[in-house]
Amino acid sequence: MTKSRLFRLWLVLGSVFTVLLIIAYWDSVGTTHFHLHTAFLRPHPLQPRATPGPGLAAASDVEDFLEKLLGAGGKRAAAPGETAEQPAPGNVEESVRGYDWSPRDAPPGPDPDARQAERRGVLRDFCANASFVFPTKERSFDDIPNYELNHLIVDDRHGVIYCYVPKVACTNWKRVMIVLSESLLDRGAPYRDPLDIPREYVHNSSTHLTFNKFWRRYGKFSRHLMKAKLRKYTKFLFVRDPFVRLISAFRSKFQLENEEFYRRFAVPMLRMYSNHTSLPASVSEAFSAGLKVSFANFIQYLLDPHTEKLAPFNEHWRQVHRLCHPCQIEYDFVGKLETLDQDAAQLLRLLKVDKRLHFPPSYRNRTASSWEEGWFAQIPLAWRQQLYKLYEADFVLFGYPKPENLLRD
Ligand SMILES: *[C@@H]1O[C@H](CO)[C@@H](O)[C@H](O)[C@H]1NC(C)=O
Ligand SMILES: *[C@@H]1O[C@H](CO)[C@@H](O)[C@H](O)[C@H]1NC(C)=O
Ligand SMILES: *[C@@H]1O[C@H](CO)[C@@H](O)[C@H](O)[C@H]1NC(C)=O
Ligand SMILES: *[C@@H]1O[C@H](CO)[C@@H](O)[C@H](O)[C@H]1NC(C)=O
Repeated sequence: MTKSRLFRLWLVLGSVFTVLLIIAYWDSVGTTHFHLHTAFLRPHPLQPRATPGPGLAAASDVEDFLEKLLGAGGKRAAAPGETAEQPAPGNVEESVRGYDWSPRDAPPGPDPDARQAERRGVLRDFCANASFVFPTKERSFDDIPNYELNHLIVDDRHGVIYCYVPKVACTNWKRVMIVLSESLLDRGAPYRDPLDIPREYVHNSSTHLTFNKFWRRYGKFSRHLMKAKLRKYTKFLFVRDPFVRLISAFRSKFQLENEEFYRRFAVPMLRMYSNHTSLPASVSEAFSAGLKVSFANFIQYLLDPHTEKLAPFNEHWRQVHRLCHPCQIEYDFVGKLETLDQDAAQLLRLLKVDKRLHFPPSYRNRTASSWEEGWFAQIPLAWRQQLYKLYEADFVLFGYPKPENLLRD
């Protein structure tokens, strides 16, 4: 009896001690930024939901405790009636900013805040829409395996979380995150200009603090800590048209010489879908022998049910909703590559770092949407339709229209 009581006492003391440790950590890294972050959130009351998403709803005692200690007035209290009825984005905008949005579903004007409200609204509506389903939609944040949180980069200095999506300006956004978080030093001093950072450092995962690393550092409190940060921090991602992203992935990984992608992906594709038995060991030999994966091979690989039995899609073609969990994480900012320049400027302004940081211009010849029809002309109609199904959730959640012209004869 006394033994078990003693044991329970130890348990309680142990938990309290761990919580205190976490608080001490937070005090040292986070507090200066809550102010900044809340200041950003206040003129921006279009948080997708007044109550957190499915995964975030059940706040445990520990989270409440952390919450109270961390954020003096951090999380916005739900306004009366807000949960009962979600006003249309335009109406919120109107009541908050005094704009005159007459028709309820007016298309977003040139106002960038309205554009963000619209994108978050689409995301919120389809996440809440029970007749729109895709795998993993209904799971909670707690059910997302740790290794699937490896795309969420955290900057504690400014209170920012970025979910990187390969082929969507991610190199430059990673550079920005390195500058903001000062996570990489150049001769003893943090990098100040994103373009100074060598590319190989940018893509080295040890440069970035990502959510999947929390487990090693904070053990069983890592999820609580993640959720506390998700509530406090500004969360953003950048997306692009899903089919154009696939073309871009194909161009950069299979049309340019890339040793790793040749061995891991091109060789099996050429074997399986083009009947090649003996293939050169290096990509340069293969290219000079005219052996290249075709776009049709690539699409066939994506549609082959066998592919994902071996391993999940590579991040360059994995669906954005599987990389960033947009129904479990309420993104504050949804940028698009199609409006990259405006979105980047707006985001840096919102983060209040636009004075000292400019988003690097992209020099590369970007894959244009207008090429889509040309690329897909060689793909059988049935495959195009299956491919749309495979990426449908990304089209819908991020407001990209269904490419009807590609899905009809
Ligand atoms: C919910 O999703 C379905 C299927 O995508 C769609 O047909 C319907 O219009 C959506 N409902 C609302 C209220 O958006
Ligand atoms: C990534 O960075 C770590 C630490 O700086 C280094 O040990 C490692 O070799 C780097 N990995 C690559 C692939 O460059
Ligand atoms: C590959 O070989 C199989 C059987 O040997 C044949 O049925 C198929 O048509 C061939 N495919 C191509 C693309 O040549
Ligand atoms: C971009 O690439 C396309 C196709 O490869 C080419 O037709 C176009 O001229 C290029 N544009 C620039 C600005 O290099």
